[in-house]
Amino acid sequence: MDTVTIDAHKTNIYTEEKQVQLAELTEAVAKSDYLPQLHIYPKAGLMNDPNGLAYFNQKYYVFFQWYPFGPVHGLKHWGKTVSTDLVNWSEQETALIPDQSYEKNGCYSGNAIEYQDKLYLFYTANFKTPEGKIPKQAVAIMDKSEQITKVKQPIIDSEIPGLSGELRDPYVFSKNGLFYMLLGGSKFTDREHTGFGEEGVLLLYRSENLLDWCYQGLIELPIDTGYMLECPSVIEVDGKDVLFLSPMGMTSDGIRFRNRFATVYLVGELDVENLTFKTDDWDELDAGFDFYAPQAFYKGREALMMAWFGCGEPEYPVSEQWKHGLTFTQKIKLNRGKLCRFPAEEIINAFSSGERVDTKVVKPETSTYYLHLTAGFNFRIGSAQDYWAFSYDANKEEVSISRAGLALKIDEMFGYERKATIKDLTTIDVFVDNSFVEIYLNEGEKVFSFRVFQEKTENIYSLDQNLIGMVYHKKFID
Ligand code: FRU
Repeated sequence: MDTVTIDAHKTNIYTEEKQVQLAELTEAVAKSDYLPQLHIYPKAGLMNDPNGLAYFNQKYYVFFQWYPFGPVHGLKHWGKTVSTDLVNWSEQETALIPDQSYEKNGCYSGNAIEYQDKLYLFYTANFKTPEGKIPKQAVAIMDKSEQITKVKQPIIDSEIPGLSGELRDPYVFSKNGLFYMLLGGSKFTDREHTGFGEEGVLLLYRSENLLDWCYQGLIELPIDTGYMLECPSVIEVDGKDVLFLSPMGMTSDGIRFRNRFATVYLVGELDVENLTFKTDDWDELDAGFDFYAPQAFYKGREALMMAWFGCGEPEYPVSEQWKHGLTFTQKIKLNRGKLCRFPAEEIINAFSSGERVDTKVVKPETSTYYLHLTAGFNFRIGSAQDYWAFSYDANKEEVSISRAGLALKIDEMFGYERKATIKDLTTIDVFVDNSFVEIYLNEGEKVFSFRVFQEKTENIYSLDQNLIGMVYHKKFID
């Protein structure tokens, strides 16, 4: 579709002179057949991890990993988009450009925390040398007029004996009047199963002023951390700590952890004095194909999250000037100690009042719709030649999604099917936003996030009992 040249070097850096090129790419992306209406996607180029998520100055801020000049993992910038309702997002702009020597290989992931009426943006200043990476963490401060200033740099600039140079993705939070930072990393080990001689670790730092940081040590974890741990994030929900981790190289375990990289949540208590996480429960966070690097944030005391709608470097069957996006903003809750997440109310409210469904076939009017089912848990979406399928085996207490029937196959190397176990399935909420699909079981006890590339709005048809529930379409707003 495109006439614009793909940037094969992956090293473009945003400057004012590049505005014309970016505008051309943006124009090409706007013609894509696969754009969602409610999910955030890059106006051009590749978007990965959500960064610096915050509710600040009465607005939702979403920063994100961005290479604007092509659908590839190039030199990472931070992009920025802002919303008051989680539905309408401002035009995407660059927020952090890797234009300083200490961040010459990219402004990598991190988070945000509000302090003295300003938003502190923490990130990894990626710095490569021929001998390997030198770990550096940096900060930029945004005021209420959205002026962003890079201050005292880097704020952490040291290697740690026994750990590799791959230390990244700061997540800063406050506890008992002090600031703490989690950092992902890897340590050298003789442990064989990772096959890399390295093992994922979680580091803790402490600070009184957000600028001077003191290393506390490694937090003990009860899980397989693979060969490298990325994107830690922690949030308090109903008096418990919920920790998100993105380990690379985690071993598959039956139906779990089938993706290139895994995403895990742990519920329990983070003990910052003894460097432990007392774990009540943990599991894979998402059972779909395209999910990674979740980040949690607060709106007041409310716990919210978003994740990258992608994982690693998947092969897509379409070649366009944009790649990936972010999941819906989701509200996090604990239900009898188990983590549940569900799209924020603002997103649900973007759909119309809906129609009752009690039939074998549902015909959605547009490519963005929401189906709430209380029966008919065995269905296909598409046509006989091009469909994806959902099925439920009540005896095995197992659900599965399959992309095997799609005409345009996706990332076949990692299989066609994903499964999850669930007891007493009572509701399924399916959000189809063109090529972005999110399915919530029992209001978010289990979630599948995955991409599909189908040519037109397709029927939903049941393979056995009637589909019973409601169908909602996206509200049309002038
Ligand atoms: C996770 C990740 C992070 C890193 C960023 C670079 O997807 O690899 O660890 O900071 O992406 O874009």
